[in-house]
Amino acid sequence: MTTAPIEAVAAREILDNRLEPTLRVTVETPAGTGRADVPCGRSRGAHEAHERRDGGDRYRGRGVREAVAAVEGEVAPALAGHDATDQRGVDAALRALDGTRRYERLGGNVVTGVSLATLRAGAAATELPLYRYVGGADAGVLPLPFFDLIEGGELAGGDLPFQEHQVVPVGADSVAEAVRWTAEVYYELGDILRDEYGEASCNVGDEGGYNPIGVDDPREAFDLELRAIEACGYGDEFALAADVAATHFYDSETETYALLGESMTREDLADFYADLVDAYPIVSLEDPLDQDDFTGVADLTDRLDVQIVGDDLFTTTPRRLEEGIDRGAATALLWKVNQVGTVTEATEAARLATRNGYAVQVSERSGQTPDTWLADLAVGLAAGQIKTGVTRGERTEQYNRLLEIEAELGDSATFGPPGDALR
Ligand code: PGA
Ligand code: ZN
Repeated sequence: MTTAPIEAVAAREILDNRLEPTLRVTVETPAGTGRADVPCGRSRGAHEAHERRDGGDRYRGRGVREAVAAVEGEVAPALAGHDATDQRGVDAALRALDGTRRYERLGGNVVTGVSLATLRAGAAATELPLYRYVGGADAGVLPLPFFDLIEGGELAGGDLPFQEHQVVPVGADSVAEAVRWTAEVYYELGDILRDEYGEASCNVGDEGGYNPIGVDDPREAFDLELRAIEACGYGDEFALAADVAATHFYDSETETYALLGESMTREDLADFYADLVDAYPIVSLEDPLDQDDFTGVADLTDRLDVQIVGDDLFTTTPRRLEEGIDRGAATALLWKVNQVGTVTEATEAARLATRNGYAVQVSERSGQTPDTWLADLAVGLAAGQIKTGVTRGERTEQYNRLLEIEAELGDSATFGPPGDALR
């Protein structure tokens, strides 16, 4: 029975937080309409779905008019009459229409936008909040947020080699508590930076974390975070974590990593992590090595007793995650829909992770809009973990939406990853 036949699929070129064009897609059915904005990474993995951009002078080549034309000229007629509540069917039709492995033809941004807007239309047609439409009757796990308080790498202008130095309020028992504690730590860290590193150190990067001037050692960033946590009286309520994004300081010619003025081998870097994990209350490391180094990541996973998250390593792609599982590389999947393309493929990756004892951390992109499907999907997938930056409207809207869902669920909600993982 078709309850929500797709009548129209439309797209517009809108702007993201970096003032770069992206897609806003609308899927219309007689039973309800869905709309979704497409995010965009900057520190992208090499194995992500192809992102379609116009090239040329307009917006320095970043326009998405051709993607808009593809949605309306090609995708709309192909999906007409498909049931929007049949997510797998719609996503399979998108895959067949494209015909390439990484959506080189239609564009991964086209496919992600249409897939997410279809999901929203399905939720509207069934009159369910998105998180419940995705998660079913028992959807009720709110995610523990990883807050990127100090940024570096590709996402900030400073000298820090690691991309994200996160604080994790592992002692909190709700999103409301996690957000409040972290906000207080954020204000405190701002005071410390202003006093000791100068006002400009309070400028923020793409995900709203500070960008301290003259700090080039991740240990100094962690020390600053710990000081702010201590000053607020939270002590052990917080742990630390990092997205290293090591590919960005890896030289594939010499097979070395440029870190702290040294040229480190994979083994040197592993020793550095071992010391770091000994010295700091670190619970999670994302992309600690080059994105194709499954062997090195497997060795590190063996050696370190912390969560190892694969972002560029897996690119939310079931095929790459399977390789990781076979080789014992990493213990968690970073989950970004637009790395792989459709909701169905991304959900498949999340299921594969869970079935094999891997954790799932739902993630923002550094480029996005205030659209909050991310927060809903984190609850719908019962992921138990989310990273969605710190300040800036497109990040705080995710927290606002999580707070709303938490209030809606009331006492029935649980918080964070299962068991005492990360605590
Ligand atoms: P991106 O970076 O969204 O720019 O790819 C975020 C991350 O590496 O986790
Ligand atoms: Zn990452």
